[in-house]
Amino acid sequence: MRNAFTVSLRQAAAIRRQQCAVRRVVVSPALVQQQARRPISNCAVWRNNSNSANSDNAAAQSQQFSPLGPVGVAAALAAREEGQTERVVRPTIWDEFALRDRVALVSGANRGLGLEMALVLIEAGARAVYCVDLPAQPGKEWVAVQEYVKRMDGGGAGARLEYVSADVRDQKAMWRIGEEIGDREGRMDVCVAAAGILKAHTNCLEYPGEEFEEVMNVNTNGVLFTAQAAGRQMMRFGNRGSIIMIASISGSITNKDHAWVSYNTSKSAVLQMARSMACELGPKGIRVNTLSPGYIYTSLTAAYLDKQPHLYDKWSGLNPLGRLGRPDELRGVIAWLASDASTFCTGSDIVVSGGHHAW
Ligand SMILES: NC(=O)c1ccc[n+]([C@@H]2O[C@H](COP(=O)([O-])OP(=O)(O)OC[C@H]3O[C@@H](n4cnc5c(N)ncnc54)[C@H](O)[C@@H]3O)[C@@H](O)[C@H]2O)c1
Repeated sequence: MRNAFTVSLRQAAAIRRQQCAVRRVVVSPALVQQQARRPISNCAVWRNNSNSANSDNAAAQSQQFSPLGPVGVAAALAAREEGQTERVVRPTIWDEFALRDRVALVSGANRGLGLEMALVLIEAGARAVYCVDLPAQPGKEWVAVQEYVKRMDGGGAGARLEYVSADVRDQKAMWRIGEEIGDREGRMDVCVAAAGILKAHTNCLEYPGEEFEEVMNVNTNGVLFTAQAAGRQMMRFGNRGSIIMIASISGSITNKDHAWVSYNTSKSAVLQMARSMACELGPKGIRVNTLSPGYIYTSLTAAYLDKQPHLYDKWSGLNPLGRLGRPDELRGVIAWLASDASTFCTGSDIVVSGGHHAW
């Protein structure tokens, strides 16, 4: 058993040496850090080489090691293989989550969930996060977060939170913003498409076409245009990337007693859009997933909750945790989906709803 394992490790190491020009796979903090900082496009496994002779090797290599090199059990085995049994090692799990030097575009990030998500990307080490939203000038919350980021030490030190005023419904404008970010930063790694709207109750049989279109234009078309803006830059620079579309539990279930046919339809479309794009972009190393939150108090839901306070209890009672979620409870999942900690996850819908689906 031991020999078989050793051979496969040696083969994997040989593939890695050949493709990533890493001569020795030795787990040391310096190597892990060096590889994390290395331009991601240097690693052949993530290139679009599905038709090349390298593709089999690339596939084999990608199954052997994380982009950071061997981690977890593979790191322990590689260390023993290299005779590094005395060397002090440190955990690599936070390196897998680290977004060191990466660049992100987040729509709907002037406030609410989008702003929370933009901040966690900075805290995870992103170099710059571009927040796209409608107002000509960012609001007070956004400015407060930008000031907070400027005072940040550790992983977020020197990071930039940038604001761009734009409408996600404008495909050309979104593509142009993506290009400008690409020109300026030389890369694009993460996209969070969070801009969305929810309208008042309207009977589905009377639903006005114009209003239906309005919701679809923001929640579905706008998500596509945002993903395109970032995805085109991921392709341009040849680096892999992670596109996260903010859907909703409303894409899979109907919110009890709420006449939200436009919202629910738009979110369902986002779920299928992500699966479809994930299949097209997987061979290019670009992952596409959706995040489906349950009820969380933000300006979007405040339009209901502030006018009808009984909905707090009603919505809270719809999940086994018996409460609404907080925006910060999406930080972990965004950090995970954006990072190398989730490199085998694409075409998936991650539901964070307090268990709303469980009964
Ligand atoms: N809050 C919840 O309970 C909840 C639950 C599930 C899903 N979601 C989804 O999360 C996302 C964020 O919602 P939120 O709760 O933070 O709401 P929010 O209203 O606080 O934030 C939405 C943001 O999108 C922006 N936006 C709207 N139309 C835009 C456009 N055309 N172009 C650019 N920006 C635009 C708004 O200006 C706003 O800043 C939405 O897609 C929403 O559907 C929210």
